[in-house]
Order: sequence, then C-alpha cells, then structure tokens
Amino acid sequence: MSKFVVFEGIDGSGKGTIIKEAKKFLLEKGIQEEQIVVTAEPTNGFYGKKVRELLKTNVNPNVNSQQFLDLYVADRKEHLEKILQPALKNNKIILCDRYKYSTFVYQSLQGIPIEKIKKLHEGMLVPDLIFILDVSPTISLKRISRRQQLEAFEQQDFLEKVREGFLASKETFPDENIKIVDASKEISEVKKEVCEKLWETLKD
Ligand code: TYD
Repeated sequence: MSKFVVFEGIDGSGKGTIIKEAKKFLLEKGIQEEQIVVTAEPTNGFYGKKVRELLKTNVNPNVNSQQFLDLYVADRKEHLEKILQPALKNNKIILCDRYKYSTFVYQSLQGIPIEKIKKLHEGMLVPDLIFILDVSPTISLKRISRRQQLEAFEQQDFLEKVREGFLASKETFPDENIKIVDASKEISEVKKEVCEKLWETLKD
C-alpha cells in the first residue's frame, strides 16, 4: 500500500513539525519505520543545493525567475527518479515537504506564465494526498525570524500572495486530492486533523 503524501504551505507554516507528528502517528499505528520515507524539496542534491545558494544570495523575489524555475524543476526530476519513484515501487509511504504546487505558486508569482509551468510538469507523478497548511504571513514570519535570516521569498507582501496562490490550488488542480488545513490552530489540533485524513487515505 504505497502512498505519496505532500505537505505545502508558505514559509514558516509548520510543515516540518507536522510531518514529524504525522510520522510519529504512523509509527503508533504500527507501521514499520522502514516503510516511511520523509523527504523534502528543494532536496540536498546537486540542483537543490544550487537553489539554496540562490535563495540566500539573492533576497529580491522579483529577479532570477527563470533560473529559479529551471533549478526547482531539475531538482524535482532528480527527486522523482532517485527517491520518490523507487520508494513507491517498494511500497513505502512518502511524506514529502513541498512538491510541484510550490513551483506553481512561487514561480508564477515571480512572473513565469502558468502554461509554461504546466508544460514542464506534464505526466509528472500526482500525489495521493496533498495538505496545504494555511497560515497568515504575520504568524509564519514570527516563527521564521526566531530561527534564521530571511531568504528570497520570506517577505510579508510576497508571502501574502503566496498564501492566496496556495488557497487557489484546488482550482488549478481540480482533479487532485487537496486538503486545506487551518494551521494557525494549536499544533495538537492541526496534527489531529492531518492524521485523521492521512489515515483515511492510507486505508483506501
Ligand atoms: P523551504 O521549504 O523553505 O526550505 P527550507 O525550510 O529547508 O529552507 O524552501 C525554500 C524556498 O524555496 C521557499 O521559500 C519556497 C521556495 N520554493 C519555490 O519557490 N519553488 C519550489 O518549487 C519549491 C520546492 C520551493
């Protein structure tokens, strides 16, 4: 019973924390640790590293859009080939921090036409379930600034638009299993909502 589950949301929406909680939940349900793969985009591969450098050196979100697009897509292809597809073949449950939805939202806000992004993602693996953790940038930026220096996309006005973009994902992908979760609530409540839906999907 392989499953591909994606977590999306603006920077600081709590994806990392919720993924850890979701993994704990699966272990408590008796799923073997070896059956769970936790992974993220950008990855730690060649293109993922390049994109992280670019995010740090260039904090203006309005420049380098084509370069960002090329790197994120190349990184995703490598991720699919090396990690995601082999894991699914081996009946794993994948918990993935960001996937194509981030490109559709962030890079279209950087000015790349949506049709161009669609073309690049034609035929690409569709997840079984996608969570969008929805939170206001005011809350998310408070969380981020506690832990690090801000990167290219981590500015309030930009993140407001990113949030709207994620909320519109159901219209962009009407045939996909997208679940929007209010992530401004207590972590225990967010966890409960995510895990219930996750379990429902795993039992299918
Ligand atoms: P992020 O998940 O914040 O990585 P980390 O928490 O490890 O720093 O991702 C880094 C940034 O990349 C984030 O601002 C969102 C952006 N991003 C895109 O613009 N497009 C994409 O396709 C992906 C995967 C991420």
